[in-house]
Amino acid sequence: MTTAFMRSLVAGIFIVAAAAGHAAPLFSGHDEQVNALLAQMTLDEKIGQMTQPDLACVTNFADIRTYAFGSMLNGGGDKPAGDNNPANWLRTMNELQSWALRSRLKIPLLYGIDAVHGNNDVAGTVIFPHHLGLGATRNARLVEQAEHITALETAGAGMRWAFAPCVTVPQDIRWGRTYEGYSSDPQLVSALGAAAIRGLQGDALSAKPDSVLACAKHFVGDGGTLDGRDEGNTVCDETALRELHLPPYRAAIRAGVGSIMVSYSSWNGLKMHANKYLLTDVLKGELGFQGFLVSDWAAIDQISPDYKKDVELSINAGLDLVMIPKGPGKPNNYLEFMQDLKELVTEGKVPVSRIDDAVRRILRIKFQLGLFENPYTDPALTAQIGSPEHRAVARECVRESLVLLKNDRHALPLSKHLKHLAVIGAAADDLKIQCGGWTVSWQGDGQLTRGTTILAAIRQTVSPDTRITFSPDGRDLKDADAVIAVIGEPPYAESYGDRTNLDLSAGDAALLATARAAGAPVTTILLSGRPLLLGSALDQSDAFLAAWLPGTEGQGVADVLFGDAKPTGKLPRPWPANDHQFAVNRAFGPPRFPYGFGLTY
Ligand code: BGC
Ligand code: BGC
Repeated sequence: MTTAFMRSLVAGIFIVAAAAGHAAPLFSGHDEQVNALLAQMTLDEKIGQMTQPDLACVTNFADIRTYAFGSMLNGGGDKPAGDNNPANWLRTMNELQSWALRSRLKIPLLYGIDAVHGNNDVAGTVIFPHHLGLGATRNARLVEQAEHITALETAGAGMRWAFAPCVTVPQDIRWGRTYEGYSSDPQLVSALGAAAIRGLQGDALSAKPDSVLACAKHFVGDGGTLDGRDEGNTVCDETALRELHLPPYRAAIRAGVGSIMVSYSSWNGLKMHANKYLLTDVLKGELGFQGFLVSDWAAIDQISPDYKKDVELSINAGLDLVMIPKGPGKPNNYLEFMQDLKELVTEGKVPVSRIDDAVRRILRIKFQLGLFENPYTDPALTAQIGSPEHRAVARECVRESLVLLKNDRHALPLSKHLKHLAVIGAAADDLKIQCGGWTVSWQGDGQLTRGTTILAAIRQTVSPDTRITFSPDGRDLKDADAVIAVIGEPPYAESYGDRTNLDLSAGDAALLATARAAGAPVTTILLSGRPLLLGSALDQSDAFLAAWLPGTEGQGVADVLFGDAKPTGKLPRPWPANDHQFAVNRAFGPPRFPYGFGLTY
């Protein structure tokens, strides 16, 4: 029997089990251990398990022992003290764990990190294309493979929990997080999200050292906000919410996802973190989700001006674990959270049964991951981080993610034997633009990681007789036999990427005009987290490739430029013709390129 066949069989069993209202088999088997442990826990210890401080706000690691935190997290760009290299991460993770194991009940700590396109906070890891590019591959098998490598590189740095995959279904490209979603189509997001979960966790979450807890996020409707505003309000009726934004969660639960992150956004004006109907009745009840629910970063703080009320509303709504960074002027926010929750239980405002349910869910995952027997990472995994084998898979992802939008006069593939090839545009030699946000630093604009730029990849691909000139501003075009122009968006993450204007930058437009004037065939490569309005850029290019945010393996781009791999990518969302089409909306005429468009040569 093939594994694919067995998997579909297993998936089938899940559907049947869920429909019959049974617990998903993935989460059975540890009830006795969980209950025995729970019976020994004080209220403080239970609340500790529900507390997840950010690494940067725990200045004294002894607090991990004192308060018996259930989890800690790596805010985007957080780093351990000392060098940013895998060995130092591993050492730090082990140190945190050793403090947890000194607490009274020795419950291991579960550390979470935004490994959203590879284990991207750790320098030297392989960086995969962001989700939108993977959406263009339409290749669930490849996504699963990529996420398995992410699992290896996450576990190898000492963490067993990735805040991924993002299964948002972005509807409006003004949203700065558009690239975190595979597609505007819920079916494609569902298929690739489930594949990603299998890649991270394995066929089931387990004690295998490379089984890493996945986290589907952000529940629910984060991609449906008005005008694409980050953390905004999704206004629609329940039927629309269920058709557009809920399907990826059904698929994620079927794939056995162990955690789900709640969205900052609101649905019809109510903050998701306070929405008991969706968190408890729909997700945990109707959909049978048995893992735990984690908040987003300081997200409960947005429910009301009264923090204690926020704790009450969110925990009663069904939240199990609360992400707590430093607040303005509040270095030890976690103490306030724990104090408030304890008072709420004592006052009878949060039932003990709710606390027990949350702690059971968290402990069950820790048993499933085998953390009690093996709290420390297998160091054999650390050596594999950033290996050539891992990079080869990312290169394959890049090849398959490129979407060819135009190819006149057979501009592509380019010959490897041209006399003079002119490469223009600063983005051709800029790993930060190539990787985008969530790369080493939160905004992707900080420390550089290791990788191959598109320019370096072109140099490695053409014959030694080809003269390559590189000019960021397109000055050096004389006698060029062909021009490759690389343009794109600077890196951004979250609300920093929200835009109302999605025209190409004036600099990029000018660059292409210069390229056209040179007379040689022009191939344009666009690096961006979303479609942009192309204006005259298409007319000025003979060939045009949408390359999204490909990550560290620029060689995958050169493979397609020079014919070592044919372009196969298909648009994962429609490409707008004008600024009335930023939101997926057929009412405003046909898009410039429809969903699914993509040429080959
Ligand atoms: C983001 C999440 C992320 C979390 C932790 C939040 O601001 O919305 O996607 O997982 O921070 O860094
Ligand atoms: C991000 C964190 C980041 C922080 C910086 C949050 O919204 O998700 O990961 O470190 O903002 O303030």
